[in-house]
Amino acid sequence: MKLWGGRFESGPSEVFERFSGSLHFDKRLIDADIRGSQAFARALERVGILTSEELQQLLAAFDAIREEAKDPAFFQGANDEDVHTLVIRKLKERVGGLADKIHTGRSRNEQVSLDTRLWLREKIDRSRGLLLDFMGSLLAMARKYPDAVVPGYTHLRRAQAVLWPHYLLAYFEMFDRDRERLDQARARVNRMPLGSGALAGSGFPFDREAIARELGFDGLTRNSMDVSADRDFALDFLSAASMILLHLSRFAEDWILYSSEEFGWLELGDDVTSGSSLMPQKKNPDSLELIRGKVGRVFGSYTSLFLTMKGLPLTYNRDMQEDKEPLFDAADQLAGSLEMARAVVDSAQLRVEKPAAAAEESWVVATDLAEALARNGTPFHKAHQIVGRLVLESVRSGKAPAQWTPEELTAFAPEFTPEMAKLLRPQEGMKTREIAGGTGPKAVSRALEEAEARLASLRL
Ligand code: ARG
Repeated sequence: MKLWGGRFESGPSEVFERFSGSLHFDKRLIDADIRGSQAFARALERVGILTSEELQQLLAAFDAIREEAKDPAFFQGANDEDVHTLVIRKLKERVGGLADKIHTGRSRNEQVSLDTRLWLREKIDRSRGLLLDFMGSLLAMARKYPDAVVPGYTHLRRAQAVLWPHYLLAYFEMFDRDRERLDQARARVNRMPLGSGALAGSGFPFDREAIARELGFDGLTRNSMDVSADRDFALDFLSAASMILLHLSRFAEDWILYSSEEFGWLELGDDVTSGSSLMPQKKNPDSLELIRGKVGRVFGSYTSLFLTMKGLPLTYNRDMQEDKEPLFDAADQLAGSLEMARAVVDSAQLRVEKPAAAAEESWVVATDLAEALARNGTPFHKAHQIVGRLVLESVRSGKAPAQWTPEELTAFAPEFTPEMAKLLRPQEGMKTREIAGGTGPKAVSRALEEAEARLASLRL
């Protein structure tokens, strides 16, 4: 079926129909399309286009179509131009000529904006929930290993010791900013566009506020041309989704490394790893590798729609139908990746002795020593120099930090005091970093409590 045709002497070619039809992907909007159409039917009744009997008849028909559409056979053989056309054809099959009134004063341009917003709002809410669940798993793991010491890295070289919860909280903060970005995207998505018509505003005095209330929108779009032209609400979501996948990819990379034989810190569950078809010993982190890989796909969706929109003249152009596949795919990949990431964290064990040994055998305590000298009156550059020489000497003689006795230390440089020798253990140096945001044990314990409280309040 077509929603147009009077002006044409012959119909579209098979190749054009095949090329331009969107039903095979925009059928995912069918629930949103029906909800929106029901709200629109009520608006039509309020302005006197439909009688209340007609309205009841249409609402019931829409309900029946929604039910029928749950069966995949519903879409079989349908060759309507898009989901909006399909729904109207089904309506005609049920209520005959009355269906011809449903599109009074409405354009598919605003309808597609409405449907996409309704669909996307739901996906954002689901992903937000999955994101919070994942963040909860990070905090649960932090609780499980409150005192575990690990080397923190810069340049992938051991830098300074941190608590494992401090490391996990770093990701918690990234993902909480991502949650904020999702909330901001949702606020822009959640504006009601109906009443805009094709581009100039509808010729009927619909109560837009009433439609918005009925569909759970927070407010109205303000300009009809903007509605037909804009997809930045979708781009906002894709941008937020890309950032989440970016953060997930870094997390995945860390954990792929940390669970390798070379690091040996993390043991991943059998339920989230796979074997090799040839090498019997393998336990591969495919779940994390896929999560790491998804950022390419999701960011690809973002750039895809971004470039589709670039330079389009106002207002609607059919190019914009290309918004849906990237948007749908990104929403699916985001939800899947968050679910997977959570399962990986829940499955993981930290072998605390491994990173602790890595911290102890390296010179992650060097900064602690230099700062202790500075606290005692040695100018920092000089202190840096002294500790640098201590490290060089240790590397030459194959000596681990803890092998230095207090006597040897003071003999090495008179600036050292015997008490400073305790800083040769990473746990001690961390205690000097109780500054807010630092890895001092008390600071981390406070930060963890604060994060737990924040997460609980976000779930409300
Ligand atoms: N399937 C179309 C889309 O997604 C619906 C809008 C069609 N509007 C039009 N003027 N051809 O963009």
